[in-house]
Amino acid sequence: MAESKKSATLTLDGKSYDLPLYAPTLGPSVLDIRKLYAEADVFTFDPGFTSTAACESAITYIDGDQGELLHRGYPIEQLAEKSSYLELCFLLLYGELPTAAQLADFKGRVTRHTMVHEQMHYFFRGFRRDSHPMATMVGVVGAMSAFYHDSLDINDPWQREVAAIRMIAKLPTIAAMAYKYSIGQPFVYPKNSLDYAGNFLHMCFSVPAEDYVVDPVLSKAMDRIMMLHADHEQNASTSTVRLAGSSGANPFACIAAGIACLWGPAHGGANQACLEMLREIGTVDRIPEFIARAKDKDDPFRLMGFGHRVYKNFDPRAKVMKESADEVLGLMGIENNPTLQVAKELERIALEDEYFVSKKLYPNVDFYSGIILDAMGFPTSMFTPIFALSRTVGWISQWKEMIGEKNQKIGRPRQLYVGQKKRDYVDLKHR
Ligand code: CMC
Repeated sequence: MAESKKSATLTLDGKSYDLPLYAPTLGPSVLDIRKLYAEADVFTFDPGFTSTAACESAITYIDGDQGELLHRGYPIEQLAEKSSYLELCFLLLYGELPTAAQLADFKGRVTRHTMVHEQMHYFFRGFRRDSHPMATMVGVVGAMSAFYHDSLDINDPWQREVAAIRMIAKLPTIAAMAYKYSIGQPFVYPKNSLDYAGNFLHMCFSVPAEDYVVDPVLSKAMDRIMMLHADHEQNASTSTVRLAGSSGANPFACIAAGIACLWGPAHGGANQACLEMLREIGTVDRIPEFIARAKDKDDPFRLMGFGHRVYKNFDPRAKVMKESADEVLGLMGIENNPTLQVAKELERIALEDEYFVSKKLYPNVDFYSGIILDAMGFPTSMFTPIFALSRTVGWISQWKEMIGEKNQKIGRPRQLYVGQKKRDYVDLKHR
């Protein structure tokens, strides 16, 4: 636990209460209110957790004003340029960059866990052919607890480790299977000679009838997309995983809960919603109409891929993603892609508009990712599953961190009750 050298005093009904104040390694100080209810008989009110730290964590740090994202202290820009997804997974899980031998061992362990239990193939067939791949993933990942009984004991560190490796290894396989199932093609088994991102492209795009060669440019772009989504401290889906895990639920059930939460359009579902919006706008001349709608209080429409709870300057992931979009589309010779043109112009206009400037609304990670995934050949329904498989390492690292804590408690928020006072039941004939 962080050390408390200072405290703040709360005065309520003439009584004073000392609240310890912790100094984090980075970021604002944190007031400890844990004893407040027992001592002062009051709760605090913070729906949406805008001012509440729900846990201690040493994994990821975000400075929203500076547009800074650090994983174990390393800036995302440096990682995206110099590292790789599996190296980042190691860093997030174990806290330090691996040595060459550690990385080789880790890659080997992940690679050898990429196949799923053969019986899982039958499980997929229970879903309707037109199921959204996210719906299939929530079900299949939850069902992993029915297949891998030897990694369910959360009190055994080795089983926690095996569950983590299994999920990092198998989520791409499950996402690819969900995709293949939705388009009526046979499942493609993983190939150990390929790297993590290349193997995912192989499982999505190859068919048994002909050879498929993974394009190294696309594989690198895929790896970078995975890195940019790997972890993002206590966002909604990660908090969901932690809350589910706090009851002692098994890790597969917890990750399934995280996938369900990620699906919403305000969170991971925004990448699909954003590309659909860009396509609906269609041409640059229609942008003002959509900007006007986004500003209209009576219209629920929002510019998808814009705004963030924490980033109030820029989203550093969006910067890297934009560079990647230019690179990938350029290399594919489709830099004049009309969707990219609309995106760039929309970004330019919104960044100059008083509404967006005053509310500090900037493009987020989802703004450009869909354009790259679309160019690679993924349908929009696969965008959020790709976010989910990339974020799995973040969820599992945060879950492991929580389970490893000495005094870990079940998460149990309180409420500001505004319902009826106690009253007597009225018989049906008297109502
Ligand atoms: N378009 C138009 N207005 C917006 C937008 C937007 N995209 N985002 C926020 N606003 C306005 C909002 O109407 C509000 O105005 P007012 O103060 O007049 O009521 C103000 O800005 C603050 O918005 P908020 O909803 O209170 O902010 P929040 O921190 O609760 O929400 C957000 C953050 C990301 C949910 C929101 O910006 C949003 O819905 N964006 C679109 C969806 C999106 O792109 N989500 C992906 C987020 S990044 C990846 C991830 O986390 O998964």
